[in-house]
Amino acid sequence: MGGARRLLVLLPLAALLLLATAAGATAGVTSGYRRKPEATADMPLDADVFRLPHGYNAPQQVHITLGDQTGTAMTVSWVTASEPGSNTVAYGRSPKKMEMSAQGTQTRYDYYNYTSGFIHHCTLTGLKHGVKYWYAMGFGHTVRTFSFTTPPKPGPDVPFKFGLIGDLGQTFDSNSTLSHYDANGGSAVLFVGDLSYADAYPLHDNNRWDSWARFVERSVAYQPWLWTAGNHELDYAPEIGEATPFKPFTHRYPTPFRASGSTEPLWYSVKIASAHVVVLSSYSAYGQYTPQWTWLDAELRRVDRKVTPWLVVLMHSPWYNSNGYHYMEGESMRVQFERWLVDAKVDLVLAGHVHSYERSHRFSNVAYDIINGKATPVRNLDAPMYINIGDGGNIEGIANNFTKPQPRYSAFREASFGHATLEIKNRTHAYYEWHRNHDGAKVVADSVWLINRYWMPTHDDSN
Ligand SMILES: [Fe+2]
Repeated sequence: MGGARRLLVLLPLAALLLLATAAGATAGVTSGYRRKPEATADMPLDADVFRLPHGYNAPQQVHITLGDQTGTAMTVSWVTASEPGSNTVAYGRSPKKMEMSAQGTQTRYDYYNYTSGFIHHCTLTGLKHGVKYWYAMGFGHTVRTFSFTTPPKPGPDVPFKFGLIGDLGQTFDSNSTLSHYDANGGSAVLFVGDLSYADAYPLHDNNRWDSWARFVERSVAYQPWLWTAGNHELDYAPEIGEATPFKPFTHRYPTPFRASGSTEPLWYSVKIASAHVVVLSSYSAYGQYTPQWTWLDAELRRVDRKVTPWLVVLMHSPWYNSNGYHYMEGESMRVQFERWLVDAKVDLVLAGHVHSYERSHRFSNVAYDIINGKATPVRNLDAPMYINIGDGGNIEGIANNFTKPQPRYSAFREASFGHATLEIKNRTHAYYEWHRNHDGAKVVADSVWLINRYWMPTHDDSN
């Protein structure tokens, strides 16, 4: 082969290499970490994490969530197993002086051959922001006392640390996730759906809803968790006569939906510190003119980034997911709402459902109009960063079936269990970190500084 011809052959090769290098500079990372193979079994019902509290009819399954939009009210929920007991919660700023009290309500439900205990919900009102309160319930039987700190008043530069957990379940891995989160010390959890996985059991054994609530009490009795509905909250089983979606979930887990003008508990918003958090339901109607569509349209107009600079959206089924599991299940909702979220300059979208971890660059796919062919996700600094955090560690196991090649929107992905935290520092900066369960609790396996889309919209933070 002559020199000129060799050059002709080599030039395209060199061009290809250059292209590959350029693409590699922005390509995502599929983690080389290999999770040890091990069974993902539910903890047995006699495990210590499911232990009943001492005493006859003692309040169990204690959990709290915001009772209004900003945390000057807190809703306390608990179950008494044997008899109704008292609906009263006493509360105050010292365990020795709980001089205020509130009256709650109680409910029960039947699910096939299961009848729930007496489920109590009591909203404590008149709270001040950023203050520690003690509370107690179970009067007449066995009193139990807990405490929480209300979130700080919303404002543009109010630091706050959220925990991010999804698809938790009640396996040994779930227990590890919760312990690691406890060690990393957030002040409220944004939970992206799929709580107990009771529906993995024959007849959706609702005793596993009870055991799950006893398991997570060690965190959620002391700090508010914000609930998103996942598919495992549907408990839709017409074959056994259970055709009311979300029956156990909505009886057990209230949300402050009325405070944000919502008409259903499955979609709502809260304002915590510098964050406006919007919770959506992947399993409720979201087409044009539906209640959720109408509410979100109005809600995004209500967001004031001068007061709450950080706009975070929660849903269960991800819009951007490059795992073979549940691939494109969130697509119809993405088509419906992505344009709105891009126009609103949402900072972060959190989803679960896929049992692995993935973080995106800032991409959008909103140019398509059915005939123009523009259906490829493209870089867009107005777009949210998407994080799939469905890696709490449930009985269904890990999702380790990533599509190849890694899509350009995907920045980092790993098939492991874990949790994340989002620490808002001020109106412009927030530090996000992800922890895999197989490391020590404090080890950071993935992290990124988020730069606020409203205050610093031209800064690309997604590399
Ligand atoms: Fe799910």
